[in-house]
Amino acid sequence: MNITFLLNGETVDLADIDPTATLLDWLREDRGLTGTKEGCNEGDCGACTVMVIDENGPKALNSCILFLPQLHGKAIRTIEGVSGPNQTAHPVQQAMVDLHGSQCGFCTPGFIMSMVAGHASGATDHDTQLAGNLCRCTGYAPIIRAARAAANQPVPEWITTDQAFSCSKIPRGEAAGRGAEPPTRLLPQNADDLAALYLQNPNATLVAGATDVSLWVTKQLRDLGPAIFLNHCSDLKQVTISDKEIRLGAMVDMNHMRKALADLHPSYAEMIRRYASVQVRHAATVGGNIANGSPIGDNPPALIALNATLHLRKGDARRSIPLEEFFLDYGKQDRTPGEFVEAVSVPRQPDHLKCYKLSKRFDQDISAVCGCFNITVSDGIVSQARIAFGGMAGTPKRALSVEAALIGKPWTAETIQAALPGFDKDYAPLTDMRASAVYRLKTAKAMLERYYLEDQGEITNVLEVTS
Ligand SMILES: Cc1cc2nc3c(=O)[nH]c(=O)nc-3n(C[C@H](O)[C@H](O)[C@H](O)COP(=O)(O)OP(=O)(O)OC[C@H]3O[C@@H](n4cnc5c(N)ncnc54)[C@H](O)[C@@H]3O)c2cc1C
Ligand code: FES
Ligand code: FES
Repeated sequence: MNITFLLNGETVDLADIDPTATLLDWLREDRGLTGTKEGCNEGDCGACTVMVIDENGPKALNSCILFLPQLHGKAIRTIEGVSGPNQTAHPVQQAMVDLHGSQCGFCTPGFIMSMVAGHASGATDHDTQLAGNLCRCTGYAPIIRAARAAANQPVPEWITTDQAFSCSKIPRGEAAGRGAEPPTRLLPQNADDLAALYLQNPNATLVAGATDVSLWVTKQLRDLGPAIFLNHCSDLKQVTISDKEIRLGAMVDMNHMRKALADLHPSYAEMIRRYASVQVRHAATVGGNIANGSPIGDNPPALIALNATLHLRKGDARRSIPLEEFFLDYGKQDRTPGEFVEAVSVPRQPDHLKCYKLSKRFDQDISAVCGCFNITVSDGIVSQARIAFGGMAGTPKRALSVEAALIGKPWTAETIQAALPGFDKDYAPLTDMRASAVYRLKTAKAMLERYYLEDQGEITNVLEVTS
């Protein structure tokens, strides 16, 4: 596979790349750019952060979980390419020096790259922007002070020039991996192209954001075999909002999704803010989060509570099913070889959705339990209830007994208490390193009580409680 991208302002053409080489390894081992650090090598620490610029602008990404083919047609800045002509410091670098943002310095390149990407995109929520970067010695206060100080400075010209270059000069339409090469590593340009290629190569691994798949390679040392990279299918990256529905293409990433849902279903958007980190959210897609069939993925319970429909495609044949029916059993989904997730849609509805993510760490942690509640009360009576959980069974699963115990009953504290035993019928959760079965059941029940209390105007969010 041949790819082209811009690295620190210079065009790089690579022929016959190993498609499962990570950007981090290539930068450090092939290019000698060792400023980008390796900490965890699994997307958790941010030491390897680089800035990638595509048609949607600059974003921070973890280079340890990025495969080289995902970079075709994009512009990359590493820590070596952040300062300007004559070593003029970027405002972020200068602020880090002035405000003592670095001690041992190991995490510093990653922090600087997250801050540079945030600065270039105008992000001002620095806590969120930096939640995916870990520092063991400086402490976060000086770093946040530096991010705030730099926010007032203009984006340097050499960074904006980069953006223009990436969008106009790199041949994005190129079909790398097609033509003379054997059909083993493919980069389809749209959903039709993907449908045809996947039908011909049904055993290929689909690679969307690679936030799961990359770990199969870097941690499990698996050979991916034939792989199809979806990141050029821009028609799968669309969010379409009509009077009838919200339709999310399979390749919509978590940051895009968070923005799209912010006004329509704010609690869902707020939950996505706690989905991994900015870097991971820029890569992870809704299609990947559904297709991987994980029982602890954050999107499926929220989407099921919103009565989502999953749109699957195999060649030219399409079918749509309720999302909850896709998850057949642990590790087993209703998807045939050559079939892929094209989109997921939810009906437009008044917003009654609350999503509660429970994890050991507030940011950048996988859910132990994720409960999503969508309850409609009409004239004091529960007229509709859809409740779904992650982390309570081998699949994302609805709380059907609890729903039945609520529907048609008065919306009162007594009804809530009477519905709680339904959780014991609906779920038999596991004990694992994230939580015990007893704790999971107890907190699931507490989440329903919380939903009711919030509806009554009580403040239950610890972040909002004041003395
Ligand atoms: C550091 C870190 C933190 C994380 N935190 C969270 C978290 O807080 N919450 C959470 O839910 N997840 C989390 N994850 C898991 C991961 O981000 C998600 O599962 C993600 O949504 C996967 O999407 P992706 O686009 O990266 O998929 P990929 O890794 O590219 O693919 C995942 C699977 O889906 C298949 N696939 C992808 N797209 C399609 C498609 N369109 N049709 C059919 N099959 C497809 C792939 O073949 C593969 O089997 C985290 C991961 C990391 C590394
Ligand atoms: S090395 Fe830790 S996120 Fe990449
Ligand atoms: S400065 Fe040492 S780890 Fe952050």
